[in-house]
Amino acid sequence: TKDQIILGIETSCDETAASIVRNGCEIVSNVVASQIESHKRFGGVVPEIASRHHVEQVTIVIEEALKQANMEPSDLDAVAVTEGPGLVGALLIGINAAKAFAFANRLPLVGVHHIAGHIYANQLTELMQFPLLALVVSGGHTEIVLMPEHGTFELIGETRDDAAGEAYDKVARVLKLPYPGGPHIDRLAHEGVEPIAFPRIWLEEGSYDFSFSGLKSSVINYMHNAEQRGEEIKPQAVAAGFQDSVVEVLTAKTLRAAKQYKVKQVIAAGGVSANKGLRKSLEDTFEKEGIPFTVPPLFLCTDNAAMIAAAGSVMFEKGLISSMSMNGNPGMTL
Ligand code: KG4
Ligand code: ZN
Repeated sequence: TKDQIILGIETSCDETAASIVRNGCEIVSNVVASQIESHKRFGGVVPEIASRHHVEQVTIVIEEALKQANMEPSDLDAVAVTEGPGLVGALLIGINAAKAFAFANRLPLVGVHHIAGHIYANQLTELMQFPLLALVVSGGHTEIVLMPEHGTFELIGETRDDAAGEAYDKVARVLKLPYPGGPHIDRLAHEGVEPIAFPRIWLEEGSYDFSFSGLKSSVINYMHNAEQRGEEIKPQAVAAGFQDSVVEVLTAKTLRAAKQYKVKQVIAAGGVSANKGLRKSLEDTFEKEGIPFTVPPLFLCTDNAAMIAAAGSVMFEKGLISSMSMNGNPGMTL
């Protein structure tokens, strides 16, 4: 049978990305133009700047993805693009580029949920087994998602305030670390300094929801009190204590859900799944439980278009084709 070839496009936040994926699981090319340098001095993503970069980069990354794959538009079966959630102005640039490309080359258009993309990044490493449980942790999301089968998502738990990555970035800011702060906290947490004991926020018994804003406040209070008392603040100790709290709660709730729903596989997805402490904790925990666990390599944890093509591949197989009047959907639900 003929291979299925999908072009993926992602512009929901601060990466302009295009990728070509074969049969939903094999990366043929993967191009990411990062804007992080432009947003750094503002300490976060500035939507207007993001849109302008996407406009400048989107055609270039699409052409580069085709060139690196040594392919022509006629080799493609469909164009998959992030429909939401994300910054509306940023989403629209990818969507309009995808529509124009699809129209000009008579290709079907597939709108993809960004989180479905993060989850399907795992399909590029190892084929998924169902029922499957996904821990999705990124700058905008913290969710436990149950997948009974391909393309079906049930939300089991979610954050009630900050996303895990958002908490990382806010704590990093307090520690005067550059944006995005997650990787910096991760690095400091591994420098072998005794962690400060911060609380674990479990919420009601049995809940799979999360809350990180209380933990963030504990860190800020600790820093404030230490400063007032003239005590030295060890950033490594703060980073390690914060990370221990986040990792313990994420791991424990994912484990409890995996057992309750008797899943065949657990996966982690999203930018925070690049975290060394979280990866090790999940790997060790699920190895002990005998439940297969996978997490994508680092370059597929943060935003990219290969994951959008991989999720789009399943939707295309299911006949879930979008209309040419597709719009950006910043609050799209999974
Ligand atoms: O998935 P992603 O690239 O974009 C969103 O969809 O949000 O995730 C970005 C988030 C940022 O908050 C960043 O600080 C966090 O992922 N992040 C990390 C690490 N690498 C990236 N957080 C903790 N540890 C890391 N190593
Ligand atoms: Zn993302």
